[in-house]
Amino acid sequence: MSQNNKDQWGSNLGFLMAAVGSAVGLGNIWGFPYKMGANGGFAFLLVYLILAIFIGFVIMFGELLLGRYSGKSVVGTYRQLSEKYAIVGWMGFLSPLLILGFYCSLGGYCLKYAFANLGDLFHASWGVNGLDGGTFFANFITSPVEASIWGAVFVVLTMIIVAGGVSGGIEKFSSVAMPALFVMLCIVIVRACTLPGATEGLAFMFSPNMEPLKTSFIKVLSTAGGQMFFSLSLGMGIMITYGSYLGKDESLQKNSIVIVLSDTIIAIMAGMAVMPAVFATGLEPAGGPGLLYMTLQNVFNAMGAVGPIFGFLFYVLVFIAAITSSISLLEVDAAVFIESSAKRGKALSRKAACLIAAVIVLIECLIVSCDGLGSNGLPQPLGFCWLDFLDCWSEGIMMPLGALIMSLIIGWQLGPKFIKEEQEIGGHEWKAQGFCMICFKFIAPLGMLFILLGQVHSFFPQLTFLNWLG
Ligand code: PHE
Repeated sequence: MSQNNKDQWGSNLGFLMAAVGSAVGLGNIWGFPYKMGANGGFAFLLVYLILAIFIGFVIMFGELLLGRYSGKSVVGTYRQLSEKYAIVGWMGFLSPLLILGFYCSLGGYCLKYAFANLGDLFHASWGVNGLDGGTFFANFITSPVEASIWGAVFVVLTMIIVAGGVSGGIEKFSSVAMPALFVMLCIVIVRACTLPGATEGLAFMFSPNMEPLKTSFIKVLSTAGGQMFFSLSLGMGIMITYGSYLGKDESLQKNSIVIVLSDTIIAIMAGMAVMPAVFATGLEPAGGPGLLYMTLQNVFNAMGAVGPIFGFLFYVLVFIAAITSSISLLEVDAAVFIESSAKRGKALSRKAACLIAAVIVLIECLIVSCDGLGSNGLPQPLGFCWLDFLDCWSEGIMMPLGALIMSLIIGWQLGPKFIKEEQEIGGHEWKAQGFCMICFKFIAPLGMLFILLGQVHSFFPQLTFLNWLG
């Protein structure tokens, strides 16, 4: 039984808003559309969906299940299973702390861009004022003070929401923000798809191209796997933490399906908002920060009088996508702080726990913001810019490793009886038992091992023995 005496979600819908909010983030907007377009279009989507079903869904289900079973934080959950797994819990604690450092800095960029597009609306001096997207971006990231201020604002906003509590802060915010994001996304899609020349962008994303699958299948597989895994916010205790606030009467299986599906649908929709506009403006498709902060600003610059309106709308949308992810990250660590202080007999309040986590994140965020993707002359750890350095430990190593170990623990140690009991407590039959067990035991561990190697290879291309990964 759960030893849950902490916060709970107000409703299952509220939980879903928060969980989908965590999954939908920068990865959906700057990662998925370009990767899909560049790696086979519709064919890539099929590969992505297969991986999402066989690996993403079961790991999501496993994380929610462990969290709801224990009713504890990520560290407490693994400790409850066995002291020897505590290290996996601590990796789940560290990864969000590292990711937050750069995620908040990038979230600050979104705020800056929303603000600048608003400025254009009023012909203010703080607008973009028609400056080329690349120049505007370079000017911004090479102004450490300005980038740091926007990053700090983003950290503080994240902290305030999480300090409001699970149902009073995270759920309340997500329940308003996620529908708003959806509506804004629909508006931007309609505008983008009705621009002259937009069909080329849709063709880039969707037209099936078997060539990449034939020539570099392994690379397509590892690109899709890495994207799927990051996009679903797996392997770092988020879904364990969110699952710990879930009532025993909810179906974990059904919730996992809804989260995976919604995240994929929003990633596809993001592509329909972005790629048609890029092609209609005659620009080259791109991915990553280049797409978000340079190419797209050029798209809005080229839209004439309505450009700032759509620019503002779009960057607010990206801001929402980013902050609903960052609050889920901060919650993981706040929950660990609250729980470990309670264990030592000192009851740390939620507000104090959030403040401690936020101060650590703020320090990292200031370093990343001052570093400006390596353009400002700061010492570069291991030859990485600070953003990549933080990303490498978390997304590159600890997250895939954590998910790999988790699937092994569930598949080989806890077993079907344990899963069945937790899933069926509320009377929801575990319909996919056979499928899930094969995935937990064999497919997910193998898939995660492959994804782990792919991630390591992308961060350390000098490891030439991994060159077979593409
Ligand atoms: N899933 C988020 C995205 O797609 C990123 C994220 C990863 C958020 C891990 C939290 C944890 O951008």
